[in-house]
Amino acid sequence: MRFATILPFLCAGLGLVRASDDRLLYAIPAGETMAAFTTEFQTACQTWPSAVAAGLTFGEALVEPGNFSGANETTEAKLLCYWTDGTTFPEFTADVAASLGATPVSS
Ligand SMILES: *[C@@H]1O[C@H](CO)[C@@H](O)[C@H](O)[C@H]1NC(C)=O
Ligand SMILES: *[C@@H]1O[C@H](CO)[C@@H](O)[C@H](O)[C@H]1NC(C)=O
Repeated sequence: MRFATILPFLCAGLGLVRASDDRLLYAIPAGETMAAFTTEFQTACQTWPSAVAAGLTFGEALVEPGNFSGANETTEAKLLCYWTDGTTFPEFTADVAASLGATPVSS
C-alpha cells in the first residue's frame, strides 16, 4: 500500500525513468549493422543541431536492440534521444531516427 503511493512520486522525480518510458521502436535501415547504427544514432543525438542551438545539455542516447519483447534484435531497436534544460527533457528521438533513415514500427 505504502509502496504504491510513493512509487509514482519517485518516478516523477527521476527524468531518466520518465524519459526511458518514451522509447520508440524503429527498424534500422536495411543492410546496416546494429553496431554501426548504434554509433551513428549516438553521434547524431549528441551533436543534434537544434538542441545545441537551443542551449540544451545532452541527456542520453539510447539504442536497445530488439522490439519490446526482445525479438528482431538485428533489424529493430528501441530508441531514445533526449537533451535537458535542467527541468524538462525535450526529446529528439524521431528526428534523429528519421535523419538516419530508420523507419518507425507501429504496434
Ligand atoms: C516482437 O516481434 C515478434 C516477431 O515479429 C512479434 O511476434 C512480437 O509480437 C513482437 N513484440 C511486440 C511487443 O510487439
Ligand atoms: C521480425 O521477426 C519475425 C519473426 O522472426 C519476422 O517474420 C519479421 O519479418 C521480423 N521483422 C523485421 C522488421 O525484421
